[in-house]
Amino acid sequence: MNVQFDFSGRHAMVFGGTTGINLGIAQAYAHAGARVTVVSRKQANVDAAAATLGERGLGLVADVRDEPAVAAALAQAVASQGPIDVLVSGAAGNFLAPAAQMSANAFKVVVDIDLLGSFHVARQALQHLRQGAASLIFITAPQSTVPMAYQAHVCAAKAGVDQLARVLALEWGALGVRVNAISPGPIEGTEGMRRLAPQGEEGAALVRQMVPLGRMGTTGDIAQLAMFLGSDAAGYISGTVIACDGGAQGQLSPMILAAADGALKKT
Ligand code: NAP
Ligand code: COA
Repeated sequence: MNVQFDFSGRHAMVFGGTTGINLGIAQAYAHAGARVTVVSRKQANVDAAAATLGERGLGLVADVRDEPAVAAALAQAVASQGPIDVLVSGAAGNFLAPAAQMSANAFKVVVDIDLLGSFHVARQALQHLRQGAASLIFITAPQSTVPMAYQAHVCAAKAGVDQLARVLALEWGALGVRVNAISPGPIEGTEGMRRLAPQGEEGAALVRQMVPLGRMGTTGDIAQLAMFLGSDAAGYISGTVIACDGGAQGQLSPMILAAADGALKKT
């Protein structure tokens, strides 16, 4: 059952919102009546995503590693859609790589997108948030708290994202900005799962075994939580990292090992 939310008259902006989990969040907000802006690097992704968001949808191209580009996207979005009520920062990169064979640039590229990019988005957005009542939501991952082999870059970057959320909640609470993070579990049909989970029906069965609720998550599961956190119902929730993972959080390391067993042997 989906809980119904009403975001009529509000503006939700989603960085990294053109595919997968983040697009699911953007679409859910659009469905609930919000004006929605999505941002990512590739024009084709931006165009395709914006076309699904209805007449109040806007798509913009920017790389979160480029702070002036992030600032320009925010200014353009606010000029056409109004102050931001809900800001989602979910752009991310991931690949399997043993630390010893990971170049410094490979480590850096993930930290730059996931962590520095999140800082760019939050810092540049602050002046554009609805005064007195806005919700900032970071998309983190189980790697932020669970050490996982072949994920040194992502574990480091997402741990930073969790702490960034907690610190900004302290600093921006007095401004009426609530700051939280969502930590999704294995979400079916996503790029993350294509990169990090064993493939095929056998792979899917192995992943399901690691989830106490016995199924992979859907983009709709994450969108429902993102709408709750953006809504007045979550008006006293700030500084938290909330898992939405069917109870799997501590148990996904074997999924990565199984995926790496197939993928890294081929390289
Ligand atoms: P995805 O479809 O690859 O989504 C990533 C999005 O970020 C895309 O829209 C991509 O579009 C954009 N992006 C990538 N680099 C960017 C950059 N430098 N600047 C701006 N935008 C950029 O991946 P997903 O699997 O749905 O994951 C979405 C989020 O959920 C990520 O934060 C991920 O860490 C988190 N997560 C996923 C899972 C899962 O099961 N999939 C589990 C836990 C956490 P462009 O290529 O057009 O830039
Ligand atoms: N294994 C090891 N190193 C890798 C790698 C892999 N599979 N993929 C990329 N790298 C390294 C590159 O070799 C390069 O390092 P080098 O300069 O020392 O050679 C560095 O990472 C940067 O790669 P590049 O391709 O220039 O980065 P990019 O900015 O074009 O793309 C990525 C960023 C690598 C994160 C890319 O995978 C991406 O765009 N991902 C977005 C989608 C995604 O990951 N979704 C899942 C989210 S959970």
